Amino acid sequence: MLKVENLKKSFGGRQILDDVNFTVEDGNILTIVGPSGAGKTTLLRCITGLETADSGTFIIDGQKFNPQDLEKSDNVMGVVFQDFNLFPHLSVLENLTLAPIMVTKQSKAAAQERGLQLLKQLGLQDKENLYPYQLSGGQKQRVAIARALAMQPKILCYDEPTSALDPNLRDEVANLILDLKAQGVTQLVVTHDMEFAKRIADKMLTVQALD
Ligand SMILES: Nc1ncnc2c1ncn2[C@@H]1O[C@H](COP(=O)(O)OP(=O)(O)OP(=O)(O)O)[C@@H](O)[C@H]1O
Ligand SMILES: [Mg+2]
Repeated sequence: MLKVENLKKSFGGRQILDDVNFTVEDGNILTIVGPSGAGKTTLLRCITGLETADSGTFIIDGQKFNPQDLEKSDNVMGVVFQDFNLFPHLSVLENLTLAPIMVTKQSKAAAQERGLQLLKQLGLQDKENLYPYQLSGGQKQRVAIARALAMQPKILCYDEPTSALDPNLRDEVANLILDLKAQGVTQLVVTHDMEFAKRIADKMLTVQALD
């Protein structure tokens, strides 16, 4: 279970997040909704350690946790960025194996085996040698999801997973997220698409705009 308590964040004296509290049970999906500029991305960045919260407590499985403690946080949170952030000069398989080899020191063979298995699971079995520019938007996104899963995170976070995609891929993304839920992956999904949010959510958190 992930529990976030009293999370606060301001930028330049402007309060963006004020006492955000929520819990997510293991294997559940929390969707984070709210108006543009309310702080959804900021919230996700604080939880994943990409941004420093001003204050707040993060608890995973009953233990306090500092998202910015890199050594400990590598296998805790996975992030699928809005614009995917794939490494353009690396093949699909290299995108998946880089962090497992460099960060968690897996052998190249083991990382490749797991990478190929993930690509198969996500319907990308013949794409391992392509480069990101050779993929469609939907394929890039699935590579980004596979890359995050390659680190076996406890929790997988997405920022606007449907916004860069053709609207008819929305159902595909929803199904993919629900498939991962069926496999026990805990997921946090930031989205401005209420219909999509309702379809996948076990619980919904609304981030309010402050001023
Ligand atoms: N690094 C930063 N420095 C200063 N201000 C920032 C920074 N990051 C975000 N902000 C401000 O914080 C507010 C919240 O931004 P954020 O990107 O979290 O909103 P959002 O809810 O994700 O919006 P959207 O739905 O448009 O993606 C905005 O006013 C933004 O300008
Ligand atoms: Mg955002």
